[in-house]
Amino acid sequence: MTTTASTASAAYWEPLWADGRQYRQLDEAEHRLMDEHLGPGRARPALDIGSGAGALARHLHHELGYRTTGVDCSPSAIALAATHDTGPSPAWRCLDITTADLTALPDPAYAVITCRLVYRWMDDKAAFVDCVRQLLAPGGAFWVVTEITGRRTTTDPDLQGLGITPADAELLTTGWSVVRTADLDVLRCYALRP
Ligand SMILES: C[S@@+](CC[C@H](N)C(=O)[O-])C[C@H]1O[C@@H](n2cnc3c(N)ncnc32)[C@H](O)[C@@H]1O
Repeated sequence: MTTTASTASAAYWEPLWADGRQYRQLDEAEHRLMDEHLGPGRARPALDIGSGAGALARHLHHELGYRTTGVDCSPSAIALAATHDTGPSPAWRCLDITTADLTALPDPAYAVITCRLVYRWMDDKAAFVDCVRQLLAPGGAFWVVTEITGRRTTTDPDLQGLGITPADAELLTTGWSVVRTADLDVLRCYALRP
């Protein structure tokens, strides 16, 4: 019997990173949106979940001034992120956010939590959002960047499947006191505040 790896696990992501797979790069427009919605870090703690090669975590840390931790379940992604480090850099941790003991994270609560191109892959999205709520400091912000289903012109089902459904979007945005969104072609950015 063959079992399919969860798309929220190292079993799924590690072979892709080890094989040199790359994902959409952040550009100036995306940086600007982060800066506008998240504001200056002033050394407050930030957590980037599914940090991959680490570009978003580095922007939070170096440009916005958050004291940032990037976590990813893939050892190869964490190793790649760490190769960019010169001088003071984000802290990198290899862990699976769906199974880890969250008390092992460097901080008990975060002023900003981010996840870019990650929410789509969580099997249990409600549990994932609950986990973020537990880790978010009062007045903090949850920044999510995700593709939205139906925005691509292609009919390729694999590419169409990269987006989240309206039901996933509703689950993500329910129960926050502030929900702001901004669009970047096929992507939507969400700034969610408790
Ligand atoms: C599509 S990649 C995006 C990487 C990066 N955020 C970016 O924007 O380039 C999704 C990332 O989420 C990570 N990931 C998936 N499930 C995870 C989990 N349960 N815990 C931690 N990281 C996870 C994967 O290893 C992968 O690096």
